[in-house]
Amino acid sequence: MMDWTDRHCRFFHRQLAPGALLYTEMVTTGAVIHGDREHLLGFDPAEHPVALQLGGSDPDELAQAAVIGAGFGYDEINLNVGCPSDRVQKGRFGACLMKEPELVRDCLAAMREVVEVPVTVKTRIGVDELDSEDFLHGFVATVAESGVDTFILHARKAWLSGLSPKQNREIPPLAYERVHGIKQAFADHTIVLNGGIVDVETAVAELDRVDGVMLGRAAYQNPWILAELSARLGLPAAGSRRAVVEVMANYARRHIENGGRLQQIARHMLGLFHGQPGARSWRQKLSQNMHLPDAGPELLFEACPSLPVSANKEEPATVEYGVDRAG
Ligand SMILES: Cc1cc2nc3c(=O)[nH]c(=O)nc-3n(C[C@H](O)[C@H](O)[C@H](O)COP(=O)(O)O)c2cc1C
Repeated sequence: MMDWTDRHCRFFHRQLAPGALLYTEMVTTGAVIHGDREHLLGFDPAEHPVALQLGGSDPDELAQAAVIGAGFGYDEINLNVGCPSDRVQKGRFGACLMKEPELVRDCLAAMREVVEVPVTVKTRIGVDELDSEDFLHGFVATVAESGVDTFILHARKAWLSGLSPKQNREIPPLAYERVHGIKQAFADHTIVLNGGIVDVETAVAELDRVDGVMLGRAAYQNPWILAELSARLGLPAAGSRRAVVEVMANYARRHIENGGRLQQIARHMLGLFHGQPGARSWRQKLSQNMHLPDAGPELLFEACPSLPVSANKEEPATVEYGVDRAG
């Protein structure tokens, strides 16, 4: 998610759900090919498994960007066919590509040809007036000719004009049954459901009908849901919010030592205590102080509802830097 799932956010989410597949923000082919690659694509090894999401519509450029992404060590390269923003439409990529299934197929085929890691696609279930069940089946069938067999479907259509990207995530109704229909018709393909999943029960129930679920806003706003869902599925999961704060404080200390700022990390952690006693004060203390020039990792301890204020910043945290798999 643009501006949200940067490398610091992903490192944080990795602590919560050591087994989940994480995705980058969409990065355009132009940025990958011509931009500051280390800044755009660099990530911590602890983030694995992590997929790079690309935005573009030129098969050659997508192939080039996929090679660069694979070279950085990404575990999957994903093509964005779901973003409806004006900027993206001007570049003729994102959701408007749903109107050109053959081009999507050719882009994905070009990407598959040059990388070993899986190439996947994330789409809507329709766009503008192209929103029938038949259209979606035809779209998936054409795109699957590329050899791509993993589809992440945001279960609502997008309107390309008249709605902002935010409205396009809220106004078109969710239609999970369309995604279930795709799973039934393309039983050998991996079909992942996305859109509107905000609780563990729904996620678990949907896993009876599809191969995977992708959580977007809920994972960001209430990150602990990642730990709850992982635990419920029998996957490794963070043991406590406190343990996660300790790992993140260590990570923040290293980041700051390397010239970074606490805010770049802490801004993703505001929702960690969502629904818990002390959530409000955690959020307030972080938001009021994390941007200060001398804000250090100790702020995380000071703001943490379940940690003593006296937690010593010089003392090594009890959990080593990296994924707390023991939790
Ligand atoms: C701030 C924000 C940025 C987003 N950026 C992307 C993006 O870069 N690529 C993408 O495929 N989807 C993006 N999305 C859409 C989400 O991935 C997801 O499809 C959508 O929010 C519906 O899922 P949810 O209800 O679980 O959030 C973004 C959503 C938000 C809220």
